[in-house]
Amino acid sequence: MMDGRGAFTAEELERIRADFPILKREVNGEKLVYLDNAASTQKPSSVIDSMADFFRTSNANIHRAIHTLGYESTVAYENAHKAVAKFIGAKSWREVIFVRNATEALNLVAYSWASKFLSPGDEVVVTMMEHHSNIVPWLMAKERLGIDLKFIRVKDSGVLDMEHAEESITDRTRLVGAIHASNVLGAVNDLHKLRDLARARGAKFLVDGAQSIPHMPVDVGSLGCDFFAASGHKMLGPTGIGILYAKREILEETPPFLTGGDMISMVTVRGATWNDLPFKFEAGTPAVCEAVGLGEAVKYLSALGMERIYSYEKELGAYFLEELKKLPFVDIYGHKEGECLAVFSFNVKGVHPHDAASMLDKFGIAVRSGNHCAQPLMESLGMDNTLRASFYFYNTREDADRLIHALKEVDSLFNKTASGGKK
Ligand SMILES: Cc1ncc(COP(=O)(O)O)c(C=O)c1O
Repeated sequence: MMDGRGAFTAEELERIRADFPILKREVNGEKLVYLDNAASTQKPSSVIDSMADFFRTSNANIHRAIHTLGYESTVAYENAHKAVAKFIGAKSWREVIFVRNATEALNLVAYSWASKFLSPGDEVVVTMMEHHSNIVPWLMAKERLGIDLKFIRVKDSGVLDMEHAEESITDRTRLVGAIHASNVLGAVNDLHKLRDLARARGAKFLVDGAQSIPHMPVDVGSLGCDFFAASGHKMLGPTGIGILYAKREILEETPPFLTGGDMISMVTVRGATWNDLPFKFEAGTPAVCEAVGLGEAVKYLSALGMERIYSYEKELGAYFLEELKKLPFVDIYGHKEGECLAVFSFNVKGVHPHDAASMLDKFGIAVRSGNHCAQPLMESLGMDNTLRASFYFYNTREDADRLIHALKEVDSLFNKTASGGKK
């Protein structure tokens, strides 16, 4: 009997887990406990099968062929845009651009939109909590365009300093960019306040939703964002496909990012005009099969219900945190204030996280160790590398217990060794 709680019954949880073939495998002779979901999630059979079926039955290039397979592929590709648009509450599927990943989505904004709309002296304000993918493109834009880049501080408790946000967003601010949920601390940011601050100054509002969209209901309309970025592989879909949502009028005014085939309407030797949205931003042969997989992934998530997923993960996260706090040899970062996802950064005192992670792997437990592509955040909170356990709806209390047990073993092995056998 699985340990379902609240949002999912034990039977439902068992059925959910059966949808993910990889969860049956063993690692180092132990049943796999996969807790690296913030890096990439596992895939249900429906996603895997949809991609294999596409290759078996309809595979062809899109938008270029009159033949039946070309038509079927085109329809499948466009239907995937429609499924994603519905999932995020976009007004039209033409506002959903398929890119490679969240990183490419953010680069598109920081290159194409910024190059046209930002001038020297303008400000872009992001938070200190951002993943590198929402920092480095803006550092490049700063160098290229002579803009200022400001960072909203994060408090020691792991939440955004909203007073500092108010001070940082000024009449010169043209864009405010914020991570919806932190891939390091799990913190879910209050985006409405930030959006209102941006709006009051006439600035655009960009949301990095790579960590939020897999775990909680997201509606771009009620978020009131102008741009929203996400990665398919973190939400049950395949790698190689990501999402940039932007309001239609903004996309109409923004120049293309990559150029070449499929993104044009007309080409002469003197110049070119652009295709309709979203294809203006989808140059070359896109990831058609991956789009089909992503479309299936959002169908799976919708069928389960994002509210239920969120509430199940909250309960599971609360259970794990309570158990983790009982370990005196563990330092936990964040989770002191506000809403949080079941994403936990922590360290076993005196043990390098890479050593700890490699021992956990011996127990069949997959966690991440390192700086989690968020070095400015780590530095600002005085953190170095950490372990990170990130849960998803197919994880269970048994998974949490297995990790707690293994952490005790890590402490006992390393700290005993370090203290010459004394504990
Ligand atoms: C919050 C956040 N933004 C962006 C990214 C980048 O995602 P990708 O590597 O799929 O582009 C990540 C990846 O971990 C992330 O956690």
